[in-house]
Order: sequence, then structure tokens, then C-alpha cells
Amino acid sequence: MVKSIGINKKEIAVFISGAGTNLKSLIKFSNLNKTNFIIKLIISNNVKAKGLIYAKKNKIKHQVVNYKNKGKAEKKILSLINKNKIKFICLAGYMKIISSKFIKKFKGKIINIHPSILPKYKGLNTHGRVIKNKEKYSGFTIHLVNNKLDSGKIIFQKKINILKIKTPKQLQKKILKYENKYYPIILSKYLSNL
Ligand code: GRF
Repeated sequence: MVKSIGINKKEIAVFISGAGTNLKSLIKFSNLNKTNFIIKLIISNNVKAKGLIYAKKNKIKHQVVNYKNKGKAEKKILSLINKNKIKFICLAGYMKIISSKFIKKFKGKIINIHPSILPKYKGLNTHGRVIKNKEKYSGFTIHLVNNKLDSGKIIFQKKINILKIKTPKQLQKKILKYENKYYPIILSKYLSNL
């Protein structure tokens, strides 16, 4: 725990693979004095992840991890986590499945954000499937990570009316706005109850 202006801040890591809009909003939120977390480490499996820009801009330690060998990749990540005294992990668009061995070491301390109302639409191409099924509502879910894909204990869900939405792209844009707004708030609340 790092003390800053009388507030105990939990050291967290954020794992990304792509655009990093959730990372951006987590960083923005954590830069506010009164937040209870500090992003000490950013992991990406993808050297081209746009989100790495935010790590650089904000001078946050970041590491691209090569996943050619998953076992080695996770060993590397674990050693970085230990070195940086990370207490909690947020997945934010991380496209790699975390092994059960890794999860065991961090039980109850890894959360993910998924762009659907789970348990509906687990996995990839969520927005495409939602549009195809002409759903009236979609949303997002923040949940603990366990050994089954998108199936851990639900921490928070937001249901959003999508009646006017026609394409997966429009849907992604709409849902992301809400994700970006809520992810840091829910994380902060969750950490304060740990
Ligand atoms: C988000 O929709 C998140 O729910 C999903 O991947 C997307 C990541 O977006 N897991 P970004 O990289 O944070 O912009």
C-alpha cells in the first residue's frame, strides 16, 4: 500500500491488448488525489496496442509480453507483478486467457470488464451477436476472473437501451462510453470493501 495525502492507495496492474480506452479512464481517475488505487504496471501482449500510448504519456511502467510460450509469458508477468508489489489486477480488453495456475496465485484479485449482460453473450464478437439477435438491451459486466471464460462472480452490471442502434460498431461505441465511465468507479468501490 502506498500512502499519498492521507489515503492508502492499492497498487494495481492493468492488462490490455488493444485501444485502451478503459485504461485511459482508469489512469485519469487514479490521477485524482482522492482515489484509492494507483496504476503501477501495465501489461500488454500486443506490441501494437494503442493503449500503450497512455502508459507512455503518463510515465507508467509498461511491458509487452511475448506469448509465443504461454507458460513463460505468465512467469514473466508474475515476476513483474511481484517486483512491483502489485495487489490487484484489472483486465481491460485483455485478449489472452489467464491460466488457472496464475488465477490461483491471485484468487479474488483479478477483475475483468465484458461488453454484455453476462451470462448472455460470453466470449468474442459480442456486439455482432447482440445486433443479429435484435436485442433491445445490452450493457456490460464487471466480474471476478475464474477458470471459466466470462463466468466469475458478478460485481456490477449496467443494462443499456440499444433500440436505436443498428450496427455492431455503433453498439461498441455506445457501450464503451458507459464502460469507461463506470470501470474506475466500480473498481474503487470494490477495493475499498476488500
Ligand atoms: C471493452 O469493450 C471490454 O469490455 C472488452 O474489450 C473492450 C476493450 O476496450 N473486454 P478498450 O481497449 O478498453 O478500449
